[in-house]
Amino acid sequence: MLASKDNNTQAEEVYEPNTARPADSVYKVDQLNLWYGQDQALKNIELEIPEQQVTAIIGPSGCGKSTFIKTLNRLTEMIPSVKTTGGIYYRNQDIFDKKYKVELLRTKVGMVFQNPNPFPKSIYENIVYGPKIHGIKDKKVLDEIVESSLKGAALWDEVKDDLKKNAFGLSGGQQQRLCIARCLAVEPDVLLMDEPTSALDPISTLKIEELVQDLKKNYSIIIVTHNMQQAGRISDNTAFFLNGEVVEYDRTDKIFSSPDDKRTEDYISGRFG
Ligand SMILES: Nc1ncnc2c1ncn2[C@@H]1O[C@H](COP(=O)(O)OP(=O)(O)O)[C@@H](O)[C@H]1O
Ligand SMILES: [Mg+2]
Repeated sequence: MLASKDNNTQAEEVYEPNTARPADSVYKVDQLNLWYGQDQALKNIELEIPEQQVTAIIGPSGCGKSTFIKTLNRLTEMIPSVKTTGGIYYRNQDIFDKKYKVELLRTKVGMVFQNPNPFPKSIYENIVYGPKIHGIKDKKVLDEIVESSLKGAALWDEVKDDLKKNAFGLSGGQQQRLCIARCLAVEPDVLLMDEPTSALDPISTLKIEELVQDLKKNYSIIIVTHNMQQAGRISDNTAFFLNGEVVEYDRTDKIFSSPDDKRTEDYISGRFG
């Protein structure tokens, strides 16, 4: 299906999004509720996330955006007070099923956080960390993964002569692209990004935005942003969250030009937020 996933045996045909064939879903979220102790943070969320598109999650601070995106790769279950009901289906598999392997999910679904969080190791070691856990030992194969992952994250040209240097020596924007490269190294399907540019300067932000446009050719991307201009620039679909609920979910151009709900209109026109 995809050039970069030549181990994919399902389909030989080339899939181009936005053509006659409708997009498949990577995620179906069904009546999802989540509580931190007594406080309900997600309320009856119903969403389908199409593949090979960029889906933006927008909404004011505290409305449940981070909680939602973390739930998609089961990061919230590490918090003892969390209780969840409803279903999340990744590629039609119930991720809350007891038999479902969370390690597999986290390989397929990579996550990038607000603040870049490289390991305190060399650039090279950051990238090969995941592949080594998956048992890849061959130096030549690892070298190839490092190069292709860094190229995929638009960082190769800037660091190819410095692979042994510590990742902490990179700028914030470079560190964030390194974190994206680290995700790509284990051949994911989906990239979750929680406000990936909010700690970055405008030029680094633009680089990440361009990168996201490029990455959607091969990956499905879900990005939380409180920057509405960013959602408008880079996403195909937008979900507007408010108080733990999805108020409106539609094509991004529709959300920003003629939303159905008054609350969406008020938010995107800056009346609150
Ligand atoms: N670990 C936690 N324990 C308790 N409450 C939390 C925790 N994380 C988030 N919350 C609460 O859940 C709600 C949603 O938070 P969050 O998902 O971080 O929103 P957003 O990312 O939209 O700002 C907020 O009321 C927040 O205080
Ligand atoms: Mg958040």
